[in-house]
Amino acid sequence: MMSEQNLAADVIRRSGVPACVNHPRLLEWIRAMVELCEPTRLYWCDGSKEEYDRLCNEMIEGGSMIRLNEAKRPNSFLVRSDPADVARMEDRTFVCTVDPEDAGPNNNWVAPAEMKATLGGLFKGCMRGRTMYVIPFSMGPLGSHIAHIGIELSDSPYVAVSMRLMTRMGEKVYDVLGTDGEFVPCMHSVGMPLEAGQADIAWPSNREHKYIVHYPATKEIWSFGSGYGGNALLGKKCFALRIASIMAKEQGWLAEHMLILGITAPTGEKSYVAAAFPSACGKTNLAMLIPPKAMDDWKVTTVGEDIAWIKPGRDGRLYAINPEAGYFGVAPGTGPDTNPTALAMLDADTIFTNVALTADGDVWWEGMTPTPPKELIDWQGKPWSPASGRAAAHPNSRFTVSAERCATLDPEWDNPDGVPISAFVFGGRRNDTVPLVVEGFNWTYGVYMAATMGSETTAAATGAVGVVRRDPFAMLPFCGYHFGDYFNHWLRIGHSIVHAPKIFCVNWFQRDANGGFMWPGFGENMRVLKWIVQRSQGKVGASETALGWIPQFEDMDFRGMPEVTRERFGQLTRIDPKSWQRELDSHAELFEQLKARLPRELVLRRELFKLDLSRQAA
Ligand code: OXD
Ligand code: MN
Repeated sequence: MMSEQNLAADVIRRSGVPACVNHPRLLEWIRAMVELCEPTRLYWCDGSKEEYDRLCNEMIEGGSMIRLNEAKRPNSFLVRSDPADVARMEDRTFVCTVDPEDAGPNNNWVAPAEMKATLGGLFKGCMRGRTMYVIPFSMGPLGSHIAHIGIELSDSPYVAVSMRLMTRMGEKVYDVLGTDGEFVPCMHSVGMPLEAGQADIAWPSNREHKYIVHYPATKEIWSFGSGYGGNALLGKKCFALRIASIMAKEQGWLAEHMLILGITAPTGEKSYVAAAFPSACGKTNLAMLIPPKAMDDWKVTTVGEDIAWIKPGRDGRLYAINPEAGYFGVAPGTGPDTNPTALAMLDADTIFTNVALTADGDVWWEGMTPTPPKELIDWQGKPWSPASGRAAAHPNSRFTVSAERCATLDPEWDNPDGVPISAFVFGGRRNDTVPLVVEGFNWTYGVYMAATMGSETTAAATGAVGVVRRDPFAMLPFCGYHFGDYFNHWLRIGHSIVHAPKIFCVNWFQRDANGGFMWPGFGENMRVLKWIVQRSQGKVGASETALGWIPQFEDMDFRGMPEVTRERFGQLTRIDPKSWQRELDSHAELFEQLKARLPRELVLRRELFKLDLSRQAA
């Protein structure tokens, strides 16, 4: 019998280590992981199209992927997950710091030694009968001073092909890494070894154990048991947000749950805005916004739709890159009226997960067409008709597609130096209380608004749907350390740069007494963006309220939108003192949880808001 070391050495020898891998630390880590996980094969991804096609064909042959109708949707595929593995699992996500206070009440914590023991047991032999894929990727343009490198080891070919769409993945990464470059080690297993003779299933996962673990001290990620999205594509939420937020605090930059869009005014003047919204609040729609007809002299372009890495530049401004190179977006609700750009982007070269299949081999989801097809195969592979009384696509079904397919892609999206940010926008999904738009009086006010943001929950994460939860900076599931420290970091960054962007808070989701939306959203949000851009250039007026600056009717462009009367505008921008007193009381609950590390500025700011509002009410 060969020893474990010899078995590992044999697997590595047979894999043919590429000549471009000359990094002793990386090789030693891979050797140790092969020894731990005991895969049957090791495969080094080169990132080529040929490799992508081959891996997809292998999945099709193995029954875990379906090729869609080539005539209707070329080079596109459907994958169906296990019904118990359909979303990020926040309750199975951990940040393992030595001191639990460093992880903060906003993270699940387990002591590193204890977690290592648990994971050591689970990962032992977890890839038996499977291939371990070595996936080298860069978050951000290759070689950019804002970018960072990760290496994911995964036993999921679905992860390997998805990472090719979502990141700059491939052998060029090893050139940047050289012999000693830094990388974030990302370990992933679906947690279902195949013992001798055991047949594989379409979506292997581990129904009993799921762990998504981050070790801030060593900047490592270990994910076990799930193959879905943010749990498995470790460059995204785990690296680009949780681990990167920690790197950013240590190194003086920001890793944020933000889209980045470019706005070109009729004069040709270009501005960039970064905007944070909780999951499934329409970030992709906003990032690909098409201005309404009456404003088609304005243009919106897309730099990113989920994550921004933002660093201070030498000129005193903040510069942002999109660390990703693709979109993993929610399919339901993507339609010709809500997001025609995204719909067109998905015409080809896309992997769909958990959407419905049509009789002619195409895909469908709720919201794609006004009337559903007469018959479908639903996301679980069962026959479906409109009379079935259930959704055909899972509410968190997704598309995975390269950014290059986006028609509104900004010409600067791949610029290694990033784009200069003029304004930050924060928005939640709120039925009431929060006005259409408000501008913080200054950086600290803005940080207060972002820190106390709330939103109704949606299907992107497991848990109750429709309750307001506080989601500071839209980072609740993604900030890798104590929120109090994170707010402090934001305050520090703002005060250390000369040209701090202005900070705005928006709410597209207010409802009237009948439960209808008061603001149409989508393309019409351009009207709010225009005011934001012009405010950041000092070109348009505003009126002062207890919370900040809000536009007056005259300050906004309502050409071609007669339904927004002065009266309706008044409702949309109203700051109701009573509702805000309640709102501030609930901020106090958040502050109580974070009080050990909460910046005093925010506590005092809350007191001042209360006083100002009580005068307004009097
Ligand atoms: C996402 C999320 O998938 O925020 O982007 O959940
Ligand atoms: Mn997101």
